[in-house]
Amino acid sequence: MTNGLKITVIGGGSSYTPELIEGFIIRANELPVEEIHLVDIEEGKVKLNVIYELTKRMIKKAGLKTQIFQTLDRKKAIENSDFVVTQIRVGGLQSRAKDEKIPLKYDVIGQETTGAGGFAKAMRTIPVILEICREIEELAPNAWLINFTNPVSIITEMVLKHTKVKTMGLCNVPIGMINNIAKILGYESNRLKIDFVGLNHMVYGKKVYLDGEEITKDVLTKLAEGGSVTMKNIPDLVWDRDFIYALGLIPCPYHRYFYMTDEMLEDEKKALAEKGTRAEQVMKIEAALFELYKKVELEEKPKELEERGGAYYSDAAVSLISAIYNDKGEVHTVNIHNNGGIMGLPEDVVVEVNAVIGRAGAKPIASGKLPTQINGLLQAVKSYELLTVEAGLRGDYNTALMALMANPLVPSIKVAKKILDDILRENVDYLPQFNKRNLI
Ligand code: G6P
Repeated sequence: MTNGLKITVIGGGSSYTPELIEGFIIRANELPVEEIHLVDIEEGKVKLNVIYELTKRMIKKAGLKTQIFQTLDRKKAIENSDFVVTQIRVGGLQSRAKDEKIPLKYDVIGQETTGAGGFAKAMRTIPVILEICREIEELAPNAWLINFTNPVSIITEMVLKHTKVKTMGLCNVPIGMINNIAKILGYESNRLKIDFVGLNHMVYGKKVYLDGEEITKDVLTKLAEGGSVTMKNIPDLVWDRDFIYALGLIPCPYHRYFYMTDEMLEDEKKALAEKGTRAEQVMKIEAALFELYKKVELEEKPKELEERGGAYYSDAAVSLISAIYNDKGEVHTVNIHNNGGIMGLPEDVVVEVNAVIGRAGAKPIASGKLPTQINGLLQAVKSYELLTVEAGLRGDYNTALMALMANPLVPSIKVAKKILDDILRENVDYLPQFNKRNLI
């Protein structure tokens, strides 16, 4: 047992870890972190060691006493943790590249977290996160699980429904939207607030405020005029002017896959031919990042990390951890059970909404009735997510097929079956549940 906080980062060898460590350094005065345990698997051992050494240099430079550990022993790291952060990629970037390529073979969007690609990622990830949760239940029952592992909605849905672990799912899209919108309007981002409603990677800004005054119309006008709100991993295709005014809400960057499917598909196919899928591009960015991380002179998060889509996620993560620990009553955008947040979606499904955060957890802020223009899409994607959780736990082909058919990005039974068969074949080493082992 430690006096200060014990934080365990599963997927500690991730190139994003310096982000997280920077977050802890910035908030050292409000978060007494005594130990950070970086956990990884055998295949990630080399990267883990590079991150471990860099983390130690960062902590030393900041003049902190926090002890850093690296380990492959996940259970030992989890034991008595106060917070467990999960940022894993089951199957690595190679599997991500397959997720992106398989649907493209059939002229269907191939994306890491949305559509059929996200489905494949969920199938690989659900068994591992379930195992981690069983360990938390046993070894650190009071710990909070802060999950970044994608697809965040689906993973959070699974954890809340099938385990006893206290969790919130977190993403950098809301914070990214605030930063981007502030930039196109020319304001400091801390002056902006957005009421977010929706699902992860499917979240809308319902109202935008500048110093408390509503400016939603100004933001819509900027977007309609071609203002760019995106992330590094999403092509910045310009929104249709009429659509933005008709929608009357601020779409998130991922909405392009659903509302501009044809253009996004063309863009993906072109990218595949010219520079490879996003996973293949990320492999190059990662290799360069790790070369940098190895340099002993490097003692802080390098600027180059901003090339990744998840840049700045530490702001979201560590400020959330601090809001829980310090019982701040601050508003954060998190993935939690709806519980009255959005009228029109069931109470017990996971949504991405603004919530008041304290030691007891998150209380969603009621955002009223789901606007009709987004109701259909959200219901469809939520059905897809619920079916995906069930398919991922039971390894049931028919449920998996229904999950894909519920996804608006999958066009027909014929195509869904082809994609599903490819996914099952290409991921055979990572899908114990489909090898006739029911996980629940
Ligand atoms: C966005 C998403 C993250 C995702 C990331 C991918 O920021 O919010 O959930 O992991 O992009 O970025 P990458 O650099 O790996 O393509």
